[in-house]
Amino acid sequence: MTGSQLWIGGLAARDLAEQFGTPLYVYDAAVVRRQYRALRRYLPQFEIFYSLKANASLAVAKLLAAEGAGCEIASGGELVLAQAAGFPADKIIFAGPGKTDDELADALKAGILCFNVESSGELERLDRIASGLGRKPLCAIRINTRQTAQAQEQMVGGPSKFGWDQEQAASQLAALLPGLRSAQVAGIHVYTASGVLDPKALLDNAQRTVSLARDLASELALPLRLVNFGGGFGVPYAADQKPLALDYLGQKLAALLARENFVGPRLFLELGRFLVAESGFFLTRVIDLKTSRGRNFAVTDGGMNQFLRPVFMELNHPTMAADKLAGDSARLYQLAGPCCTPIDFLARDVRLPALEVGDLIAVGNAGAYGFSMSMLYFLGHPLPAEVLVDGGKAILARRRGESGDCLVNQLG
Ligand SMILES: Cc1ncc(COP(=O)(O)O)c(C=O)c1O
Repeated sequence: MTGSQLWIGGLAARDLAEQFGTPLYVYDAAVVRRQYRALRRYLPQFEIFYSLKANASLAVAKLLAAEGAGCEIASGGELVLAQAAGFPADKIIFAGPGKTDDELADALKAGILCFNVESSGELERLDRIASGLGRKPLCAIRINTRQTAQAQEQMVGGPSKFGWDQEQAASQLAALLPGLRSAQVAGIHVYTASGVLDPKALLDNAQRTVSLARDLASELALPLRLVNFGGGFGVPYAADQKPLALDYLGQKLAALLARENFVGPRLFLELGRFLVAESGFFLTRVIDLKTSRGRNFAVTDGGMNQFLRPVFMELNHPTMAADKLAGDSARLYQLAGPCCTPIDFLARDVRLPALEVGDLIAVGNAGAYGFSMSMLYFLGHPLPAEVLVDGGKAILARRRGESGDCLVNQLG
């Protein structure tokens, strides 16, 4: 950001909006590379897997594949995407609950590196399907740990659809291992939180993961071939949040691994947000302005249907008037989208310079869980376009949809 207008990868947001229309997602390739390279630099012991769920734009995925990252998928669709992006099968890991038999079979046929196994039932199914296909898949048992990296985390720690309860995992595995014909239990997977900015929380989590992996391997006399530490590395969304100190985290993790003499197993991290969030902007134009009972509303052409996260997470992303950065942010606005529901907001109570119809709004940190997590066909609006800016050039990565797209696949 320089001067009074927003620049993305050396191009003016205004020109991008003009050329490609709004609503529009723009991703800056240099930021994605910067994040990946920082991980390589500060955490060289770890193999990095890109969590495709954060942003499944083929252009972004290709970029990370070209950088040498691996890929973490969570569905059969993401397997197709990962392969199309150029991730080699031996750099793809399959995570997440509810993997269907077909999805498991497709991933086995593709010869992916590893399955993060969420339950004993899944391990049995995987083993059966793998035997039928003559495959010997590596498995990381996902542990639903008692402690998590974030106190408020809902995903794991208590009763959960994710992973094997820590206190049950060894006995459940001991009962299953003798009967396994094909699945190779090779290590564990621990993913307990997302958006963590405190290195101490991540270090504690890593320490617990090392101990758990060791204990389980020795109790079951299993060779420990890999340990997936999950990740959950965050990026700041609010002005008062500090970025994760990756250099410090890297030093401390290296010290932890040395102190524990933890050598031998491959060490994995699966990260989405950290790699791509800051690369992205959601660009949308003001189409109407009004004051209602003392509040200023700016209604934009893109809303929760195309960028759900602010509503879903009940927070504002960094939000700006892309051509008025130097303006006096004197007015309090409710930035509302075009959807016929009162919950449709891009940002609430945000201070911006006085807006006019046609002004361009940019919502930052939109590179992760933006397009991928939205309710894109709600109200029949067409999909927004996606653009990757790389080396000063804008590449259209996904065409804007059309109004008629709401009829696609409908036979009625
Ligand atoms: C199992 C697993 N791995 C990786 C991720 C990616 O998380 P993040 O984008 O916060 O790095 C998630 C997110 O929900 C997850 O559930």
